[in-house]
Amino acid sequence: MYKIAVIPGDGTGPEVVREGLKVLDAAAKKFGFKYEKATFDFGGDRYLKTGETLPENAVHEMRKFSAIYLGAIGHPEVKPGILEQGILLKLRFSLDQYINLRPVRLYNDAFCPVKDKKPGDVDFVVVRENSEGLYKGMGEFRDKGTAEEVAIQTSYNTRKGVERCIRYAFEVARKRNKRKQLILCGKTNVLTFAWDLWQRVFDEVAKEYPDVKTDYAHVDATTMWFVKNPEWFDVIVTDNMFGDIITDLGAMIQGGMGIAAGGNINPEGVSMFEPIGGSAPKYTGKNVINPLAAICAVSMMLETLGEAEAATAIENAVIKIVQTKIKSLGAGKMGYSTSEVGDLVAQNL
Ligand code: IPM
Ligand code: MN
Repeated sequence: MYKIAVIPGDGTGPEVVREGLKVLDAAAKKFGFKYEKATFDFGGDRYLKTGETLPENAVHEMRKFSAIYLGAIGHPEVKPGILEQGILLKLRFSLDQYINLRPVRLYNDAFCPVKDKKPGDVDFVVVRENSEGLYKGMGEFRDKGTAEEVAIQTSYNTRKGVERCIRYAFEVARKRNKRKQLILCGKTNVLTFAWDLWQRVFDEVAKEYPDVKTDYAHVDATTMWFVKNPEWFDVIVTDNMFGDIITDLGAMIQGGMGIAAGGNINPEGVSMFEPIGGSAPKYTGKNVINPLAAICAVSMMLETLGEAEAATAIENAVIKIVQTKIKSLGAGKMGYSTSEVGDLVAQNL
């Protein structure tokens, strides 16, 4: 019996989560696993009412679950940063979800903005460090508000943090068993402290994985190759900030935010799965947002829980819908409503 904590969140979060749960339900029936869910109202509305992002016991509460399923966090009436830091980053950090796993896979070439790329050409995974780097929130102002002001933002990289992330990425490359190639994406030519550590640890851990080919790419060059030659990539490992940036580009070459899912993984603890697109306030309540990213997040969640067969079945149902039904992955252009897309995936399991 799995225990799933559901955080529908803000904007279109609740709409896409509803479809994800519809598919989860159908998968449970078909594959014979059981789950119970508990819903939490964390998000912008709650914050506006109570002034609280996460209640004090929330993190403790979350530890009791097998996994967390999150819709979206972000509210137009709340100053940027408050909910992101107070809910999303707080959960990632306190639950030590040190990996942000973002598969980038094109299911239908009609939806790829890059000319002449076929589904097999865009099929890689980004392993983003999810607990350190610039996201650590370290830094300071000096002489704030004066003409001499300095703002310092520190990238914090620990040997342990870097090593566990790199090791995880090697395991992903091995387990995927595709090109068995891991590329370290960094900026060794400029950020000479952080990336010196990353490169050293990478080379060291690589010795334990002689079956995995390794390479290095600067982050700027990586963005170029995502567009020019995405077929070069299999698994990429990078830090928190670069991972944030390159996975938005990754989402675009796989067809858009409507299909991009991610997992905040603590391999030894509670992981959290989410569509990476955000709360899309302007589409809220219109039943037009694409729920496929949220459905793919359910597939990732099941994979992590050990329900590989159900996970694959969901992904295959999504592929079928994307190849044969959906007109576009964009909100309002799918040719179907949000709930109809959920129905289609559930029926095709
Ligand atoms: C993401 C988002 C978050 C991040 C924001 C909302 C804090 O952009 O999950 O990629 O920067 O990690
Ligand atoms: Mn992001």
